[in-house]
Amino acid sequence: MYGPADLAISRRGIMAGGAATAALTTVPLVEADSALPRADPPKMTVALTVNGKHHALKLDTRTTLLDTLREHLQLTGTKKGCDHGQCGACTVIVNGQRINSCLSLALQHEGDEITTIEGLGSPDHLHPMQAAFIEHDGYQCGYCTPGQICSAVAVLDEIRRGVPSHVQADVAADPKATNLELRERMSGNICRCGAYSNILEAMEQVAGSHA
Ligand code: FES
Ligand code: FES
Repeated sequence: MYGPADLAISRRGIMAGGAATAALTTVPLVEADSALPRADPPKMTVALTVNGKHHALKLDTRTTLLDTLREHLQLTGTKKGCDHGQCGACTVIVNGQRINSCLSLALQHEGDEITTIEGLGSPDHLHPMQAAFIEHDGYQCGYCTPGQICSAVAVLDEIRRGVPSHVQADVAADPKATNLELRERMSGNICRCGAYSNILEAMEQVAGSHA
């Protein structure tokens, strides 16, 4: 028969054994980790054209297009909002189509033509969409604005090219820059300041559909 004293010894034994096991498993792991050689990340060269300027950049293969623009080309007009493809702040135009640059690796853009907000217009020669945003107060803090403007330019181009959206009653018909259509197509661009109605007015003006 086991008595209370035996049980106490057994508990002490178990605790001591557990502590010894933890010491044996954690210390060598920490030492082993710090002893691992730190290899440089793999790099590759990518050639792309940004705002009409050709660049050949040697980049860590994991670099996103957004970080390439901001950190390597100092084009900080393109903003990092969520970095998860959910806000549209990082929208740029690639070969005529808008994309979220945070979701795209720079290496995927070999030979591509990229337009950022800096390439759409300049302070002396604003793009009509930039001028319309100013006229209609299409912003407040301005953080989402570069992405909104790039998206808005690409949206009107999509409509001109007849790219359908699922709010069209007839997807075979030419899409029109209606308020509903513009809202649907701009739904991936979030504005925390809530400048949506002003953004739509700016877009309608450029589209020629402003009442
Ligand atoms: Fe790219 Fe938000 S930063 S979608
Ligand atoms: Fe502030 Fe859109 S203007 S988030």
